[in-house]
Amino acid sequence: MACVVVDRERRVWTLSTEHTTYALHAAGDDKLVQLHWGARLTSAETARLTGPPFTTAPYGLPLDLEEPLPVDGGLRWGVPSLQVTFPGGVRSLELVLTGDEVVQEDGGARLDLVLADRHFPLRVVLHHRVHEGSDVIERWVTLRHTGTEGEPSGEPVLVHRADSGNWLLPELTDYRCSSITGAWAAETQLQRVPLPAGEFTLTSRHGLTGHHANPWIMVDDGTATEEHGEVWSVALAWSGTWRLTAQRRFEGRAAVTAGFGHDGVTWRLAPGEELSTPPVLGLHTDGGFGAASRAWHRHGRARVLPHPAETRPVLYNSWEAVEFDIDEAGQIALAQKAADLGVELFVMDDGWFGGRTDSTAGLGDWWPNPERFPHGLRPLADKVRTLGMEFGVWVEPEMVNPDSELYRAHPDWVLHHPHRRRDELRTQLVLNFARDDVREWAFGWLDRLVGDHGVTFLKWDMNRALSQAGWPERARSGDGDQDRLWIDHTRNVYAVMDRLRARHPALRIESCAGGGGRVDFGVLARTDEVWTSDNTDAFHRQSIQHGFSQVYPAGVMAAWVTDAARAPLEYRFHVAMAGVLGIGGDLNAWTPQQLDTARRLVAEYQGIRTVVQHGEQYRLGAEPGRGLSAVQYVHGDEVALLLYRPGAGVGPSPGVLRLAGLDPDARYREDDGGPDLSGRTLMRAGLPIRDRLPAGDWASALVRLRRLP
Ligand code: DGJ
Repeated sequence: MACVVVDRERRVWTLSTEHTTYALHAAGDDKLVQLHWGARLTSAETARLTGPPFTTAPYGLPLDLEEPLPVDGGLRWGVPSLQVTFPGGVRSLELVLTGDEVVQEDGGARLDLVLADRHFPLRVVLHHRVHEGSDVIERWVTLRHTGTEGEPSGEPVLVHRADSGNWLLPELTDYRCSSITGAWAAETQLQRVPLPAGEFTLTSRHGLTGHHANPWIMVDDGTATEEHGEVWSVALAWSGTWRLTAQRRFEGRAAVTAGFGHDGVTWRLAPGEELSTPPVLGLHTDGGFGAASRAWHRHGRARVLPHPAETRPVLYNSWEAVEFDIDEAGQIALAQKAADLGVELFVMDDGWFGGRTDSTAGLGDWWPNPERFPHGLRPLADKVRTLGMEFGVWVEPEMVNPDSELYRAHPDWVLHHPHRRRDELRTQLVLNFARDDVREWAFGWLDRLVGDHGVTFLKWDMNRALSQAGWPERARSGDGDQDRLWIDHTRNVYAVMDRLRARHPALRIESCAGGGGRVDFGVLARTDEVWTSDNTDAFHRQSIQHGFSQVYPAGVMAAWVTDAARAPLEYRFHVAMAGVLGIGGDLNAWTPQQLDTARRLVAEYQGIRTVVQHGEQYRLGAEPGRGLSAVQYVHGDEVALLLYRPGAGVGPSPGVLRLAGLDPDARYREDDGGPDLSGRTLMRAGLPIRDRLPAGDWASALVRLRRLP
């Protein structure tokens, strides 16, 4: 089904997935243009596509939005996806198509289009990949300096911008963008705004994906709803700095270009060197935002996650209970209580190492604090396993406190510029993870930590953005390539994670960056879940989880029940049960009754988690917090529905909720009895819900249905 077709006569390349076609054409002057991205077309239909007229007038439409990789050069004035300086200060790229290659791959196909500059030694390969069972089209770019050192062509090429691809949207009557904004403890807030004529840029200059934006966008014509309408979305699989720009021209047409790096950063490409960009993923769906989200979730599960078939365990994390106040006895006491609730993975958070008794010291000194763990971590790890749980540990490998043995030994290992301050945030500085020695040091201690203690779970945190990002050795040596640290930092984080996973096949990793600062399809390729937000208030969590669910699947969304107790315990559980359930409260302070409730709800979650973590997700009812809302999951014959009404208020109180995604002709019955109802009845007339929710504020419920044979 997923295939690449080449029409050499018309010079058209077509990539097809089950429901989508993406077609490129080489126009007469070798200019590559996108003919189509949207609903699947037959080859006869694709053969008749002509695309928009590619002409321009002195002040008319520039000829770039329709290109798969508009360059800085020629008659183009839009946002360049590729921008370089050649030797001699030449800034204008002139690419010509020199070849193509189609590669059949396991579960899909790849198309490479090879271009080269007319004069200078630069080859540009546009890669495209389609996968069986996914409508996502994956694209990336490889740049290669084809000159030879010592020859006239042997000067480096400076790469100022190398996006992974530009996506032309079809001509729509209007354009609207959905994206994510937010902040620390308020991540993934959905924003849906008209796209004005001009340039709308989402970006991170933080050195990580970011709390304030996430590298994806959805575009529709302004009329799509949760259930209806065409949606085009673009997501970048990258965890460092990035830029995504949606351009809309007054005359019509819009396009989205996305790639790694942020403005002002330059990569120095030496003769013989290659620079490969991370994948940018494009997805067209017909069926509203809900269908777009489900298609992203499916892609994430099937094509991104390292262990998609696994079901994540219920974890306990010590952070909110005791923060830095950690020792062996205290952790064992919490572990015993957690095990008694049915928890399967115990994670010791920050405060176990070096001189780390608060945030001011110890980061970088990754050995057990001798006063807190006089016999090392083994007694705790063994005890946790004796209690029937796996053992996990918090780490923050990219950071150092100036008050640490590491910093005293290697002050040059941090990002810094000569004659500039080293500004601290949370009393910490950023290690230059682009350095080989720093990468090897980090891999070494992580490898020992995991191997020596049977650690099967790392919570990999990162609690500050990069700043004063200098690398004096690389700046001084004459290479002038210190900017590469912006990309190599992230590459080396990936490399260390990949090596650890290869060496320790049982190891699972949670991506965390002060909450949800590093959530993207790049890090999800080597992690198993992500810490969604440091905000664990159930009400706030609902809007955070609503935004998270637009692109990322529930099976990676870690959600803890803590002592942020505005909502009652059952409501807090029901909110956390919509993802990967964890507990983070101080169990020593929970009453026997609360512990009983928790035990019951952990068991209920264990009964539905396959459906939640692997099922198709439907967002129902009002927007969370604005009335009655629900999340529904369907997996095989099983359906799990979580209902929320935080405030009874004065608004409408619906008596039924129309379900979605069921087989209309099948019959469904609740697990605890009741009448059978057809899928059609449940979807059209609705499931009666009034009696299921207790009266008053903070009402919530779990409903389980099963399709009858
Ligand atoms: C930030 C994380 O988001 C928290 O969960 C916790 O791990 C702290 N860091 C520890 O310093």
